[in-house]
Amino acid sequence: MPELLKKEILKKTEEFVKGRLEGDSGHDWWHIHRVRNIALHIAKKEQADLFIVELAVLLHDVADHKFHDGDETIGAKVARDWLLSLGIDQKTILHVCQIIKNVSFKGANVETSMQTIEGKIVQDADRLDAMGAIGIARAFSYGGYRNRELYNPNQKPTMHSSFDEYKKDEGHTINHFYEKLFLLKNRMNTATGKSLAEERHQFMQDYVDCFLKEWDGK
Ligand code: ADP
Ligand code: NI
Repeated sequence: MPELLKKEILKKTEEFVKGRLEGDSGHDWWHIHRVRNIALHIAKKEQADLFIVELAVLLHDVADHKFHDGDETIGAKVARDWLLSLGIDQKTILHVCQIIKNVSFKGANVETSMQTIEGKIVQDADRLDAMGAIGIARAFSYGGYRNRELYNPNQKPTMHSSFDEYKKDEGHTINHFYEKLFLLKNRMNTATGKSLAEERHQFMQDYVDCFLKEWDGK
């Protein structure tokens, strides 16, 4: 595909996504903007297909099961219809949709696997944006949006074994660190992702240590 056409497709897709994003501040345009920056940075180091990576990042949160009665295939469907309307080839559409289907975290004990380097990169970038200073902000923003407690020492974390269980959990936000955020460092797919995750992981760890210390009045 000519470079100029790729550029045009990306531009149109960006406008489409900006007009469609739904839900909380953790999933707004700025999340896509940040994930794109991280993903393209990793993609250049890992010599991946930048067009596929950028297209998948733009579309990865275009429709969320949380706002569609738990329909986990909604994101890929919306993306496919959009890409079809642009006349994009089947191979590209299948690749992008497969990434969108597999990108989400589905629970502590649920394996998700990405087949291609482009998918691995998008997943790493999406996860990096759930970590570190931004990740902490997103977690409490999500907790507020769902009316959750900040913390409750009587509710211990649960290591979910299915996506259903994970989705239904209504626990406090500190539990989310144990149920997801602290696990991400060891699930990075790419070497570049792993190295970026280190600092973000340490920052969250220090943050929660400090939070729990203050909770006890120390
Ligand atoms: P992903 O984009 O990996 O599929 P989600 O859509 O589940 O993740 O979450 C989007 C953001 O909201 C992430 O930063 C995530 O950590 C945060 N989040 C999701 N579930 C919770 C929760 N139960 N408590 C606090 N934050 C959450
Ligand atoms: Ni995302």
